[in-house]
Amino acid sequence: MQKVYLDHSATTPVLPEVARVMQEVMLHDFGNPSSLHTMGVSAERHLTKTRQILAQALAVKAEEIIFTSGGTEANNLALKGTARRLKRRGHHLMTTQVEHPSVLYACKALEAEGFEVTYLPVDRNGQVAVSDVVANLRPETLLVSIMHVNNEVGTIMPVTEIGRAVKAKNPQTLFHVDAVQSFGKFPVTPATWQADLVTVSAHKIHGPKGCGALYCREGVLLEPLLHGGDQERGLRPGTENVAAIAGFGRAALLAQEDREQKLEKIKTLKELLVEGICNYIPGITINSPPEGAPQILNITFADVKGEVLVHALAEAGIYVSTGSACHSHRADPSHVLLAMQRKPQEIEATLRFSFSAYNTEAEIDYTLEKLRQAVETLRLVTRRKR
Ligand SMILES: Cc1ncc(COP(=O)(O)O)c(C=O)c1O
Repeated sequence: MQKVYLDHSATTPVLPEVARVMQEVMLHDFGNPSSLHTMGVSAERHLTKTRQILAQALAVKAEEIIFTSGGTEANNLALKGTARRLKRRGHHLMTTQVEHPSVLYACKALEAEGFEVTYLPVDRNGQVAVSDVVANLRPETLLVSIMHVNNEVGTIMPVTEIGRAVKAKNPQTLFHVDAVQSFGKFPVTPATWQADLVTVSAHKIHGPKGCGALYCREGVLLEPLLHGGDQERGLRPGTENVAAIAGFGRAALLAQEDREQKLEKIKTLKELLVEGICNYIPGITINSPPEGAPQILNITFADVKGEVLVHALAEAGIYVSTGSACHSHRADPSHVLLAMQRKPQEIEATLRFSFSAYNTEAEIDYTLEKLRQAVETLRLVTRRKR
């Protein structure tokens, strides 16, 4: 059976070259980077190298990169780390209703500690209004956290304008951008955004799971989440995952190679799928904004249960998701689509396709054929039941 993986926003396959680098480190360069002997020094070189690669990709200093166990930890460190460190200055934070759960739940945890969080609404395209950010800024706002690309629908947030507006009104307020879904695909430039903190993750760019980083601008003070050692300047103690970090570096390098051509290819694949769906499958609504990130396509198929459709497609070897991977085991409807004013029955009937440059047009043709059949069959079953 053909296998078509179209769930790259959930995770990506590790590229063979990345896996080889990791295997080499695990088998032969397994020293502890904190050890004084030559094996320690050799292991530490992998950390230094990836730090430099990420710093170059983000146009920041190598010392401003903190390795973490992934995007979730980096987001938690950015939010809790700044709020707890700066609590004498104020108790207010701001974010949007459509952030990844690692931001939203970190905010909930901070609310339980006495902080106040404003969750900004979005429009039907998932966009937050810059004017809303400005209107809700207070002199004591510690941090504004806004994602770059939304993981469920692909909306690109106006982070440059938000950064400029926040700093113009309140230079003390820190600006955090969750760039997990954009890093490696779009330019991620903290300086242009005037961002003080930026989150990236390895497994969304064909690197390993459980590895990410937080860019933390020089001079920004964080309270660590963990205590125990002085790795990562004491901000993230614990022996580093050297193999994963080495893999992250290689994946970040590979992502930068022909980045624009890869994005063009992804755009073509998405257009092909959209065109086919619009031509052959009636009763659909595209939730992704037309000017959104090309790698994500969120579509509602009226009268079809998204979850059932996911399983029907998986039987044909096609892997997609309903909403985000983080929601797929929970019954509650997507908070992103709810914030975009979609009705619960529309949300239930929704799928997310997410592409990589390694997908092919033949895979899209196969997906269209199987999707069309599955939607027709499931709609017939629904009608018979009525
Ligand atoms: C926008 C966004 N932020 C954060 C994360 C969490 O990253 P990780 O899986 O590396 O913890 C994800 C993962 O799906 C994401 O899409």
